[in-house]
Amino acid sequence: MSASGQQRQMTASEVRARKGGTPLVCLTAYTTPVARLVDAECDIVLVGDSVGMVLHGLPSTLGVTMEMMVLHGQAVARGLSRALMVIDMPFGSYEEGPEQAFRNAARLMAETGAGAVKLEGGIAMADTIRFLTARSIPVMAHVGLTPQAINTLGGYKVQGRGEDAHRVLADARAVADAGAFAVVLEKVPAALADRITAEVPVPTIGIGASAGCDGQVLVVDDMLGLFTDFKPKFVRRYAELGHAAGAAIAAYAEEVRARRFPGPGHVFGEAP
Ligand code: KIV
Repeated sequence: MSASGQQRQMTASEVRARKGGTPLVCLTAYTTPVARLVDAECDIVLVGDSVGMVLHGLPSTLGVTMEMMVLHGQAVARGLSRALMVIDMPFGSYEEGPEQAFRNAARLMAETGAGAVKLEGGIAMADTIRFLTARSIPVMAHVGLTPQAINTLGGYKVQGRGEDAHRVLADARAVADAGAFAVVLEKVPAALADRITAEVPVPTIGIGASAGCDGQVLVVDDMLGLFTDFKPKFVRRYAELGHAAGAAIAAYAEEVRARRFPGPGHVFGEAP
């Protein structure tokens, strides 16, 4: 609660302070109604660039634009009152260098009201993260499987197996040293995720990582069973809303064809 008694939104510093505490709950959202639903239970709501695949039918996140992120960020902000809103920087909006990243991060925050940005990359992004955080932009980092890099990673593979663990560990250390307030660990072996969680001073948010992380994130449409094109191993479906929606649409179509909808209660008479 704020001094005025109003509920206020969680801040990046409060998320940072949850290191080693009660696990942080994070889901994505891309629209106002879903933002309202997840705000009730989540500490962090991520306007992920997964929006491109989940809502726009793109084959990867590479085609997501700043304009898409601004539009979905504004919609999500209207539905939040307590969770920290973090917004993804889309592919091509930050990799050129710190100045480009600052310009686009500042635009995302100013135009959507997000409390932080997320960007993908480890050691290679450390200078950019340092530049942003020194200029009042809280940054959530993202290492391990970074979907914007599928063309160089060679697909959506587990990262950090065997000798490669050193690379992912070094990435996580570098982004924490650079000032990130939290780091997403995507698709890394559980033992490595536990080691990173023990070694870095900021919360780790796992997705396909380990129950030992400081928090968890899932794509909301995955866990609700609304996105059914494919199901990564790390997704647990907590509902099958896609099936329920399909059945509802079929029932509607059948009633329209049989002239059972609209019924007497859905139409208007002459007198009010
Ligand atoms: O874009 C996204 O939704 C993400 C999460 C899966 C971490 O980056």
